[in-house]
Amino acid sequence: MNSKELRSTFLDFFADRGHKIWPSSSLIPHGDPTLLLTNSGMVPFKKYFLRELIADNPRAVSCQKCFRTNDIDSVGDPGHLTFFEMLGNFSFGDYFKKEAINWAWEFVTVTLKLPEDRLWITIYKDDDEAFAYWRTLDVPASRIVRLGESTNFWGPAGDSGPCGPCSEIHYDFGFQPGCDHAECLPGCDCGRYSEIWNLVFNQFYQDKEGRRTPLAKPGIDTGMGLERVLCILQGKRTVYETDLFVPLIEKAAALSGQRYGSDEQTDNALRIVAEHSRGIPFLIADGVLPANEGRGYVLRRLLRRAAIHGRKIGMNKLFLTDTAPLTIQYLGDIYPELMQKRDFILKVISVEEDKFNETIITGLELVDAIIDTREVKESKLIPGVDVFRLYDTYGFPPELTSEIAGTRGIRVELDGFKQEMEKQREKARAGQRFGLADKGTNIAALLGINDTQFTGSKQARDNTRLIGIVVDDSLSDSISEGQEATLILESTPFYGEMGGQVGDTGKIIGTQGTFSVTATIRMPPGIIAHKGKVLSGVLSAGENILAEVDSERRLDIARNHTATHLLQAALRLVLGEHIQQRGSLVAPDRLRFDFSHLVPMSADDIKMTNQLVNDMIRKNLPVYDEEMPYQQAIESGAVAIFDEKYSDVVRVLRVGMPPVSAELCGGTHVHASGEVACFHIVAESSIGTSLRRIEAVTGRGAERYFEDRLNALSRIADYLESEPDRVLEKASSFVQELKESKKRILSLERELALTNAKNMLAGVQVVKNVNLIAGRMPPVRVEILREVADWLCDQVKSVVIVLGTVYDDKPLFLAVVTPDLVAKKYHAGDIVRQVARVTGGSGGGKPNLAQAGGKDKTKLDEALKLVKGLI
Ligand code: SER
Repeated sequence: MNSKELRSTFLDFFADRGHKIWPSSSLIPHGDPTLLLTNSGMVPFKKYFLRELIADNPRAVSCQKCFRTNDIDSVGDPGHLTFFEMLGNFSFGDYFKKEAINWAWEFVTVTLKLPEDRLWITIYKDDDEAFAYWRTLDVPASRIVRLGESTNFWGPAGDSGPCGPCSEIHYDFGFQPGCDHAECLPGCDCGRYSEIWNLVFNQFYQDKEGRRTPLAKPGIDTGMGLERVLCILQGKRTVYETDLFVPLIEKAAALSGQRYGSDEQTDNALRIVAEHSRGIPFLIADGVLPANEGRGYVLRRLLRRAAIHGRKIGMNKLFLTDTAPLTIQYLGDIYPELMQKRDFILKVISVEEDKFNETIITGLELVDAIIDTREVKESKLIPGVDVFRLYDTYGFPPELTSEIAGTRGIRVELDGFKQEMEKQREKARAGQRFGLADKGTNIAALLGINDTQFTGSKQARDNTRLIGIVVDDSLSDSISEGQEATLILESTPFYGEMGGQVGDTGKIIGTQGTFSVTATIRMPPGIIAHKGKVLSGVLSAGENILAEVDSERRLDIARNHTATHLLQAALRLVLGEHIQQRGSLVAPDRLRFDFSHLVPMSADDIKMTNQLVNDMIRKNLPVYDEEMPYQQAIESGAVAIFDEKYSDVVRVLRVGMPPVSAELCGGTHVHASGEVACFHIVAESSIGTSLRRIEAVTGRGAERYFEDRLNALSRIADYLESEPDRVLEKASSFVQELKESKKRILSLERELALTNAKNMLAGVQVVKNVNLIAGRMPPVRVEILREVADWLCDQVKSVVIVLGTVYDDKPLFLAVVTPDLVAKKYHAGDIVRQVARVTGGSGGGKPNLAQAGGKDKTKLDEALKLVKGLI
């Protein structure tokens, strides 16, 4: 049975038993902030186990892409994988232990025909119920092993979630390999037993503190390692000999000119290249890009680890763009995202590999140099600061440094490294504190509220009540003219800054006074706070007020917000579906949109994006919202922001019918796209690796922008005594003239300098057997001084030359020493520094060539006189 057959046989077996076949979900667990990467088949189903969502069919089966990061450093040995596929059947409050056990046994013994006498069972130590079910299947009691919490209690995935006792099926390879020990049983790590299937009886929810509460309805979560089972079915010793890996191993072997199976070290490197060539394309396909933290760092580690180990066995050229396509080729029909994003995946790989290739040599040399220092040789330990420097400056992951050092018997100080990292993070954090936000919870407690209801998504004013006045971080009964404060209202039409959209401004009008709101922010847990100053009169806590948002400004913001959505939709059409929003700013006068993309946008891309957005504006499409469960929103295709934590019920904002854009969003928008009026990109730039930023204007902002530009153009035209549409012609003729005059001046300077040099040649001095030319040149630039010095060297062959001039009203020196005199320790840099010092200047350079500037031009001749004494 090959891998494809195993996948479909498993899915069909459970589909025949009433299970819905679910496609694999992303490696990025969307909406699950507890987890870095999907590490098990049950991850996408957490909400169903917890009954936060109810599935149409309580039985599910899937083949899920999984990634485990804890073993990255062990990959290379025959047994560890980062990326793998997990086959699993699930019950959300439907069937329980009996069916799970019966079906698992039937699948392995009848469908896969694994010999029963090779199978062992483990159960949780006091799970007599599971024991009894296995016994009814005639599994001998002697082959059912009771184990403890560490192996037979599973979960949660991440820091919280469903979990429960489990029962595993193990395959016994016999005594070879193995420890040959009489008591060797499943659970022994000698390699004799392979755990092939884990049946988890989900009974509890475990919170972040480790407290367990029973689930309303227990469920089943099983996970079978596709690669491991395949290995058994194909009668192989390791997964690397199965059809999933053979093409990759062969490719890596061919590229390196090595043979798999010839020696252990080479095999190790080949396995690393093959293994990482699977994980890398899968991570990128799901939206991970190389970065220095989080998921991006995992990807970067794989890329770099593969590059380094490949290099060790002779893969000196970039090779991951040759190996990764095999993964796409062999698994692209099962995981279509690989095919869809093929070009993008390969582009990311080649950019990152190429970049790393440049630093790899320096980095490797540096690690070697550090290891060769006396301290490290003696202590056999690389200090944390050095590990950090390698990471921070050269992009060497600490794990790699540790691996390379390990081959030479040296350890690295990882604790010290972590401390350095923490120091850096602390620095970054220190800049981010946000005034009142920290105190929000306090204020909420004082006022006895949790959140403020926002009433402003469709209106800009509201009659409500002033419930809290905060002055200097404490509550106050009233405030009067001129006083600054933060006001909390019972409900508010003011939008508090969030999701990139800036907060509203406006007025809060009481019976005896008016307050001007200059900023609206959010404070934890969910309070909207209005900051500003009393314009006139007095405001008192508890009074009824009228809250009025500056609606012109609000409309400017709304235009920019809706335009941001249209922009994202247009970018997906122009650049591809891979782009992901990474940040945004929606202000009244402009908008900013940050997104993941590898290369700068071309002028054509920008033009097309502008056109697409303006087309959508001109069509005057309706803008409307709808609330729905998060999962449903995502399934309907709404775009969510990467890494953002959403509540269970979300607001989906759509533009157009059928929609041209659908995004999860809580911000304020126009009613129809036509209100945006006009959109124009004013800048596109890089803000980091694979991160681009677009700045754009709409509506009044665009009008102002065009007006300013046209005015500037008219002014330039006037200045050049031309017309706006002829200004380019005129300007280029000026530039041409300028270039020619510069050329003329340069050749005049050159002529002048050469005449002077010829005179100098007549006056070569000999000091201590060294030829010396030191003299003043007419005012020429430093390039000319160099040309002259070269010419003089050609004439004299062995000489020290120091030339001085006054150019642009400043003294300037150049010193040249011919190689034979450099060998005698004459140093142009030292000479010129000392000479320039006389004129109050500084400078220096190499032994053969150096230059320096000064301040006091009247001291030039005096300075040149010094030269003789320096020989
Ligand atoms: N969640 C369990 C595991 O990962 C079974 O799927 O082993």
